[in-house]
Amino acid sequence: MSDNIRRTLLELYDPLPVSDRLFVRIRLLLSNLYQLEHYVPKEGTILDIGCGHGVLSNLLAVTSPQRQVLGIDIDAKKIALAQRTVGNRRNIQFQVGDAAFLPSRSFHAVTIADVMYLIPPDTQRAILTSIACALEPNGVLVWKTHSHQPYWKYAITYAQEWLMTKFGPTQGAGIFFMDTEESLQSLRNAGLNPIVVLMPSPRPYSDILFIGCKS
Ligand SMILES: C[S@@+](CC[C@H](N)C(=O)[O-])C[C@H]1O[C@@H](n2cnc3c(N)ncnc32)[C@H](O)[C@@H]1O
Repeated sequence: MSDNIRRTLLELYDPLPVSDRLFVRIRLLLSNLYQLEHYVPKEGTILDIGCGHGVLSNLLAVTSPQRQVLGIDIDAKKIALAQRTVGNRRNIQFQVGDAAFLPSRSFHAVTIADVMYLIPPDTQRAILTSIACALEPNGVLVWKTHSHQPYWKYAITYAQEWLMTKFGPTQGAGIFFMDTEESLQSLRNAGLNPIVVLMPSPRPYSDILFIGCKS
């Protein structure tokens, strides 16, 4: 991520309490959300599901004013914090919403970063089908999650997510990481053409990206 974009993004969080500003900085350090941005069209309507503090939603809005971004999250407190970052920008909105009940609109792209594994697998599959229905023709799903490989990274990822859901700020029904084959098959079953993008990094997490294209 360029220093300018990083600075612009962090400045949006200036109105928030120091603990949330710190959380956002750590989020940006621990995860290469910028890699996701490359797969999102530069213009059109974008839905960011499970946006949390809105870091990815804001990144997408800041890097292209032609994107109209809607971030939704089940956690009303996080949405209230994300809304404080909006200021007078017109290409971003946040609202409380559940991944299982998507807004009844269509989108050119949908992003979902580190959310699906907080949802039981049957519901994950139903959500993928709803996303496919909500996408415009040639629309794209950008889904960041974690692979089961390498196993030591997966173990660290799993432990961290378990702690975040048990004792931290993350809401979720449990931890349900699908493996790569299961994820690809679920995307195909939903009617999307999937590709896998590896996210190699020195970080101790097994990040992986699935891109699902609607034909
Ligand atoms: C690990 S955080 C990721 C936040 C954000 N996507 C990011 O990359 O910074 C997971 C988020 O998913 C949200 N979440 C969990 N279950 C959800 C659901 N069923 N619908 C919408 N959001 C959900 C949580 O409230 C939390 O904010």
